[in-house]
Amino acid sequence: MAGRMLLGAFWCLMLVLVLVPCYAYKYKTYFMTQRVDHFSFANDDTFLQRFLINDEHWDKNGGPIFFYAGNEGDITLFAENTGFMWDIAPEFKAMIVFGEHRYYGISEPYGNRSLTVPKYSGYLTSEQALEDYVALLSYLRFVIEGAQTSPVIVFGGSYGGMLAAWFRIKYPHIVQGAIAASAPVRQFTDFTPCDKFGQKVTEDFANASASCAEVIRKSWGAINSITANDEGLAWLSKTWKLCKPLKSTADVDTLKAYLMDVWTNLAMVDYPYPANFLAPLPAYPVKVVCSHLTDSSHDGKALLEELFAGLTVYFNYTGESKCLDAGQQADVRLDDQGWDFQDFFEPAPWDFQAYTANCQKTWGVTPRTYMVPLMYGGWSFKAASNIVFSNGLLDPWSTGGVLWNVSESVVSVIIPEGAHHLDLRSANPADPLSVVEARRLEKAHITKWIQEFKQLQGAA
Ligand SMILES: *[C@@H]1O[C@H](CO)[C@@H](O)[C@H](O)[C@H]1NC(C)=O
Ligand SMILES: *[C@@H]1O[C@H](CO)[C@@H](O)[C@H](O)[C@H]1NC(C)=O
Ligand SMILES: *[C@@H]1O[C@H](CO)[C@@H](O)[C@H](O)[C@H]1NC(C)=O
Ligand SMILES: *[C@@H]1O[C@H](CO)[C@@H](O)[C@H](O)[C@H]1NC(C)=O
Repeated sequence: MAGRMLLGAFWCLMLVLVLVPCYAYKYKTYFMTQRVDHFSFANDDTFLQRFLINDEHWDKNGGPIFFYAGNEGDITLFAENTGFMWDIAPEFKAMIVFGEHRYYGISEPYGNRSLTVPKYSGYLTSEQALEDYVALLSYLRFVIEGAQTSPVIVFGGSYGGMLAAWFRIKYPHIVQGAIAASAPVRQFTDFTPCDKFGQKVTEDFANASASCAEVIRKSWGAINSITANDEGLAWLSKTWKLCKPLKSTADVDTLKAYLMDVWTNLAMVDYPYPANFLAPLPAYPVKVVCSHLTDSSHDGKALLEELFAGLTVYFNYTGESKCLDAGQQADVRLDDQGWDFQDFFEPAPWDFQAYTANCQKTWGVTPRTYMVPLMYGGWSFKAASNIVFSNGLLDPWSTGGVLWNVSESVVSVIIPEGAHHLDLRSANPADPLSVVEARRLEKAHITKWIQEFKQLQGAA
């Protein structure tokens, strides 16, 4: 493994030296015509769903298909950041397929109208997305010579991990097993108290240093008091190099929402090596941010200047940022405009009415509190089979995950030093042992699922 990685690094270096961009993973891009509405006969509209394939290691005689259930973003981003599948495809002689989730990337059912009104946006649901994946895999098994008897293992991280688990739960005749990484399948009303998530983010920063968490805690009050007058609004806009100067309390609310996203994202992607998932960041970015937030005795302007030094790590690690754009999403790389719409699955009981009002205002729809558990389960998962739920304990989303072994075939893998789906990333020399062990367990389960499938076929 180490030898292969060195060799890979060598070739990358060679490519860089001859000034060719170094793409780690190669795939072909295809499109499939999908129904916009899989569940009624009232709408015959179709759209093109993008998917990516690599079959260079595939055993054309029934070798497995490793399928990534795309989540809220451009599918090429997930292809780049799910190295685990690429790492293990050769030994399993697997074909790799990445399916783009409808309404994200370039798989937009109604072009630039897709997210305008419920008539167009209403088909953005996990059920419709899963049915796209069913149609896609069934089609591939039908048209690709040798794939008719291929077992399918579904992978996913985060919301994609939820899709992976739900895929196996709902369609055990289509997929033989699921690796559901950092899947908050219990992050719903009555399953997980909603303050756990924020507590976990806080714990990550507090563990880096007590003063770090304290500086962030004090910053909200400092922002409120300093921006209470025009002079303060102008001062903060200038000191934080904001792209758009603050003019109103609404602008300040936007800035605070951006900051909440930044701290949350940092906790999620607190990886042990530099990575570029939600943003380009150094190794252990929480520690690096906290190395700037060391003096919690500061107040007011001094505190906010200190905070900005930490913030710079997030928005300007490359040194190329001209200004701080608090109006944009903190995770610019995902481009997940539709995510807020989907997020209505995740009711916020601290003020469900306000949440509902916001959904109605933004999307023209009303969230349903118990929709997800009624549709997919969530109480025990004892009726399910062949799922590995993995969770890193640095990850705030682990608070809504399955953290115990459910049965022989629905198992939970805990990665104490892991952030958000670290196990799905490619092997790295800086990996903690716990993630190496997690991947070993996942591979053992995949092997078992494939063997079971082959045995059933032999018996038929
Ligand atoms: C949407 O796309 C159509 C066709 O490509 C174009 O004519 C129109 O200007 C676009 N509208 C917006 C709001 O971008
Ligand atoms: C980003 O970093 C570069 C290099 O340190 C610096 O010149 C630039 O001013 C920074 N941008 C912002 C908005 O702080
Ligand atoms: C924070 O530190 C405490 C005490 O060492 C430890 O029990 C806990 O797991 C740590 N939490 C995180 C998220 O690292
Ligand atoms: C689940 O069982 C496996 C062994 O079968 C074990 O390695 C793992 O630690 C268990 N997970 C939990 C959360 O107890």
